[in-house]
Amino acid sequence: MDRSSLIEKAVSRLSGSASAHPRSAEPVPEEARQGSPMQEQAASRNAPPSDPSPRSTRRPNGNAEVQLDLANLRRRGFVMPDGERSAVAEEFRMIKRPLLANAFGKAASLVENGNMIMVTSAHAGEGKTFTAINLAISIAMEMEKTVLLVDADVGRANVHKVLGTPEGPGLIDLLLDDQLDVGDVLLRTSIPKLRLIPMGRYHPHATELLAGADMLRLTKELATRYPDRVVIFDAPPLLITSEAVVLAGLMGQIVFVVQSERTSQSVVRDALELLDQSKPIGLVLNKTVKAIGSYGYGQGYGYGYGYGYGYSSGGKE
Ligand SMILES: Nc1ncnc2c1ncn2[C@@H]1O[C@H](COP(=O)(O)OP(=O)(O)OP(=O)(O)O)[C@@H](O)[C@H]1O
Ligand SMILES: [Mg+2]
Repeated sequence: MDRSSLIEKAVSRLSGSASAHPRSAEPVPEEARQGSPMQEQAASRNAPPSDPSPRSTRRPNGNAEVQLDLANLRRRGFVMPDGERSAVAEEFRMIKRPLLANAFGKAASLVENGNMIMVTSAHAGEGKTFTAINLAISIAMEMEKTVLLVDADVGRANVHKVLGTPEGPGLIDLLLDDQLDVGDVLLRTSIPKLRLIPMGRYHPHATELLAGADMLRLTKELATRYPDRVVIFDAPPLLITSEAVVLAGLMGQIVFVVQSERTSQSVVRDALELLDQSKPIGLVLNKTVKAIGSYGYGQGYGYGYGYGYGYSSGGKE
């Protein structure tokens, strides 16, 4: 099957699943409404933090275990690690199945580095971090599956903010400092099978580092050192930084998050065109439509859930 028909197939499945949840004609992307060029977005994503306090690069995380505030995560709509039933838990159970099958099941031999999974989207704010964390918690509930969640969205590293975990050292430190080992920046969490690597120290060219030789080396190391572990990368959006596309090339599988009512099919197509279609690409339709009042980010309350999962082939079709 050729590249374009795979994209058509994925997009039409996506629209098919969306039709279960009626939506208006093709929505205008937020960016287009605001007329803000992507370059501006990219620049603001990479802006230094307002409090660029120096972070230690040599504080080994190795033995640290951080407590996650599960009550807070539950309030914000996240999957609970104790198996508590909820709509979101059920949705992520369905989303993780094909990913785990490609990583460890019969199809695994067809998918190179199938345990390396990147969560991305076309634009910012579509639900990548929400999806990456939920996926990580959901997979950590599986028997014999350990998950490493890496915050690679270097322009908007949010995993530590959502989980309330230390912000560094992390990925960037690992890429910059030959003396550091993965174990030095790995955080254990109160969810026993969930480990984290935060983004780490601020670096003005952090995005470029994602496409560099050190990142290639690191991803190879993670894939081989932890072949029985699922490594999930919360990654930058594809249409904002070209490095996200390079990063996608280092992954075995891609989870592509689409925010319903916001991202048009043509934008989804443009972003999917950038990906290597021989890899499994899962589409997650994130129905972040606020139930009451106006749409807004930041609180995480009052959203409706619902995912469509379109699967655009695996491996060697
Ligand atoms: N399905 C959902 N249900 C409830 N809240 C959600 C859902 N999806 C996203 N959100 C909330 O929407 C906001 C934006 O989501 P998130 O931070 O995951 O997007 P993102 O793609 O990672 O954004 P960025 O590009 O800024 O990193 C967050 O407050 C998140 O908690
Ligand atoms: Mg994010």
